[in-house]
Amino acid sequence: MKILTTIAATRRYRAKCTGPVVLVPTMGALHAGHGALIQRARKLAGKRGTVLVTIFVNPTQFGPKEDLSRYPRPFAADVKLARACGADAIFHPTPGEMYPEGFSTFVDEHTVSLPLCGASRPGHFRGVCTVVLKLLTITQADVAVFGRKDFQQCRVIARMVRDLDIPVRLDFAETVREPDGLALSSRNTYLSPAERAQAPVLRRALLIAQDAFAKGERSAARLRRIVEKQIATSPLARVDYIGIVDDDTLAPIRTVKNPATIALAVFLGTTRLIDNLQLR
Ligand code: PAF
Repeated sequence: MKILTTIAATRRYRAKCTGPVVLVPTMGALHAGHGALIQRARKLAGKRGTVLVTIFVNPTQFGPKEDLSRYPRPFAADVKLARACGADAIFHPTPGEMYPEGFSTFVDEHTVSLPLCGASRPGHFRGVCTVVLKLLTITQADVAVFGRKDFQQCRVIARMVRDLDIPVRLDFAETVREPDGLALSSRNTYLSPAERAQAPVLRRALLIAQDAFAKGERSAARLRRIVEKQIATSPLARVDYIGIVDDDTLAPIRTVKNPATIALAVFLGTTRLIDNLQLR
């Protein structure tokens, strides 16, 4: 497996690829969820194609009080996992390579990036869009794979790709979970044992709301209260937001008629976890 650290070397590597190039953008600290994305990319690329994983802890998507410096960077273990899951190459640039002195151009999406995580993490999606556009431009990927756990990120990237006519096909993969329902996330490693024990409350709350929806509940306010009540059963959990939004536009809704998503962010101690569930 090839490790690429510069944009120039990545462009040269890409130019030699003959089949489809499938990109899996990550910030490293790879877990089985990323493993599933890489395996999916391998299938999409086929024997002739190339699976290119990017590992870059992107500073522009972290707020000033967020976890940029303590974000885990276990590069050797990441290389091992990426190789085992079928990656052909890893692009692992330094921040200076991606954002050289004088860098001053950013991508702002102005609709689907505003609510939910966009409201709690100002500037986050600007950083995500900017780095993803750069990664797509550098790698000229034919397909890019993202996880559905980051529901809003998927929508924001899809909007950017559509609006800016970026010639890539997006592929969104199902969330991988622990047996108790907790969505896999690199940030789960921050949880203390007591917080980890309570973390499945996010998924439990979503499933209880889904159950109410299946029994006919269509009021977003009442579904929201169901989620809130369940989260409140975990004393270490503090809600950042619970949103019930149109699946496509991410606009808040009062009554669930069209496909909608419940998206939530919850703090367990200082660790912020997200999850979502589609109501249909
Ligand atoms: O989902 C992530 O890990 C990041 O937001 C991404 C897409 C790799 C951009 O830095």
